[in-house]
Amino acid sequence: MNVKYQLKRLARSALAPLLYRYPPFALAPERLYLFLHHLVETKDVPGPIVEIGCNLGGTAVIAKQMLNRLGVDKPYVCIDTFDGFVDEQFATDVALGTPSGDQNLFSGNSRDLVAKIMQRHRCGDVALVQGDVTTIPDALLPQPCSAVLLDVDLTEPTYVALKRFWPRMSPGGTILVDDCQESSSWKARVGYSRFCEEAGLEPRYRYGMGLLTK
Ligand SMILES: C[S@@+](CC[C@H](N)C(=O)[O-])C[C@H]1O[C@@H](n2cnc3c(N)ncnc32)[C@H](O)[C@@H]1O
Repeated sequence: MNVKYQLKRLARSALAPLLYRYPPFALAPERLYLFLHHLVETKDVPGPIVEIGCNLGGTAVIAKQMLNRLGVDKPYVCIDTFDGFVDEQFATDVALGTPSGDQNLFSGNSRDLVAKIMQRHRCGDVALVQGDVTTIPDALLPQPCSAVLLDVDLTEPTYVALKRFWPRMSPGGTILVDDCQESSSWKARVGYSRFCEEAGLEPRYRYGMGLLTK
């Protein structure tokens, strides 16, 4: 890894109690609302909640704290490279118009840092699985799932994650895909619509998220 991002990682880790005293989430407020709403709607659907692409874990903290307060006792699993985008996946989307300068937006992270942030917010029971969602072994993917937030921004990991997780959803379970607004520089919508077309599912959009309910 580049020295600049190693230093960023070290600084963030040393200053974590101060920098992350409030949950560091990256979802737009209306999408955070929609995700939380679906967690309530699916509270009786069996299976863990999975967030694919959690960055620093702020959305996971807010969601897990809400579930705890509501007495919903389900595992919450975060999957991330914990080091940003996979080079080839990012390059594919640069060819579709994603600005190359966005490549390292989520670099300089680590699983240890996110674990520290989880502990800081009393969410140490959130499971953190490290890897590229397109290649993580099947055995590490939860099944069945009640709700999935898919927030990896790019075409390829969005498409492959949908192919891997749709069969894992419980009846009544919902997948929410972030960054599916028409005019976004992120290309998650391309992966979402490709999956829907191949699977014969009707694409449904709300607040710029793509939705699929089993
Ligand atoms: C927009 S951030 C997630 C924000 C987070 N859901 C939140 O609400 O705060 C996108 C995340 O996707 C992760 N990511 C991108 N490609 C991935 C891949 N192929 N496998 C796993 N994680 C990936 C990045 O490391 C980054 O942390």
